[in-house]
Amino acid sequence: VDPSAQRPATADPAPLAELIAELAPQLGNRGLLTAPVDVEPYLVDHRRLYRGRTLLVAAPATTAEVQAVVQACAARGIPIVPHGGNTSYCGGATPTESGVEVVLATTRLRQVRAVDPANNSITVEAGCRLADVQDAAAANGRLFPLSLGSEGSCTIGGNLSTNAGGTAVLRYGMMRELVLGLEVVLPDGRVLDQLRGLRKDNTGYDVKQLFIGAEGTLGVITAACLKLFPAPAGHATAWVGLASAADAVTLLGVLQSALGDALTTYELVPTIALDLVLEHVPDTTAPLSSNHPMHALVEVTLSALDSDLPARLEQALGAAHERGLVGDAVVASSLAQREALWKLRETIPEAQTREGASLKHDVAVPTSDVPAFIDAGRAIVERSIPGARLVAYGHLGDGNLHFNVSPPKLGAGPGNARDFLAHGPALKRELHDLVAQFRGSFSAEHGIGRLKVGELERYEDPVALDVMRRIKRALDPQGLMNPGKVLDDGR
Ligand code: MLT
Ligand code: ZN
Repeated sequence: VDPSAQRPATADPAPLAELIAELAPQLGNRGLLTAPVDVEPYLVDHRRLYRGRTLLVAAPATTAEVQAVVQACAARGIPIVPHGGNTSYCGGATPTESGVEVVLATTRLRQVRAVDPANNSITVEAGCRLADVQDAAAANGRLFPLSLGSEGSCTIGGNLSTNAGGTAVLRYGMMRELVLGLEVVLPDGRVLDQLRGLRKDNTGYDVKQLFIGAEGTLGVITAACLKLFPAPAGHATAWVGLASAADAVTLLGVLQSALGDALTTYELVPTIALDLVLEHVPDTTAPLSSNHPMHALVEVTLSALDSDLPARLEQALGAAHERGLVGDAVVASSLAQREALWKLRETIPEAQTREGASLKHDVAVPTSDVPAFIDAGRAIVERSIPGARLVAYGHLGDGNLHFNVSPPKLGAGPGNARDFLAHGPALKRELHDLVAQFRGSFSAEHGIGRLKVGELERYEDPVALDVMRRIKRALDPQGLMNPGKVLDDGR
């Protein structure tokens, strides 16, 4: 948390009183927060990288109220920071230290507006939590497949604004691929109404796509029509011990051939990540009786017609074991066992946090290049920070690794957290240069936010950056939407 923490949480320049007077009749007390205790949760990001200040927090409950806030701010040149469940890893929803911004919290935009099982679609407001959308789909015999560790608190607006990924991308795609329609309040206060549930619509530019992954820099997403899928008849879940990441990639191909697109999840867990979980997370046990350098969490989603899939998964793993590709494997035989296996994967970030400070990188390369990338990246880590421990885990099926680095064991390298973290910028540069050599991404699923603005400047194709800036200027000529995020606007 930076030193501006010492300054008061809200500033009080002249426009504030005016803004409140204009908005109070419509938003009321619940919709306008200024008391330091109410405002505080909106000022610090989930990773505590940033502490900002704000004029006030507006919490509109309808699209018309969002419009009112955006119009009132636009008229006075007041910047707006859209804010959902505050689970960003890159500070995208946290106000800057300027104190002149209004935080626009979406958490009261909470309606499930419609569920249409026959159209396989659901229309929800931006502040709905991801878990609530999953539940609403399930209550209607359908699946909303986006799935991530923070699903109990992240919101659909944030998922859209960061184009969230998670653990089912292999089969269902990222958030962008799950969207049929959007409703957005533009920076000038107009409502863009593309809230349609169409799977086919070739009427000109697909304008709504601009707002997905834009992290609130082009407007405020207020609602979305999302794709639903048939509810699964069940799952088959396996934990697999492997000799290497290369074998994990080979096994992925083998399982895809055997199981087709029923393969939903294919997560890579190196031994060091499993060991951290077993050490720090209560009620976890080793899934296999033998030790393996590498592991994969594999899940197959069953449709009503697929009753033989669990047997096909077991057979495929058995055959892979026979030919030496798989060291050992277990297929969950109960819901409790399935949950226990998932816990070993989903608590890796928590376990790594408990181990101490960590240097995080969210990278993607073509899946086939993952083993070579890990080898080259490990060499960089070992050379840069003697004794540091690479914890490279994640969504192997998507070529996306959380290439995180934990400090050396006590006495084995840079002793305290500050010395360790001081290596962060140089390490990041070398790793992201390596990503560029692989024509990969330095931000696979966590976005740019404030944290990676410089990285985008450095690594993005200049033509693409120019197009982004033109789009930003066209939609937000005053530069009022989430300033300082995604694009470098000189702040
Ligand atoms: C994950 O896949 O666990 C998260 O995206 C990354 C993290 O929390 O480090
Ligand atoms: Zn992830």
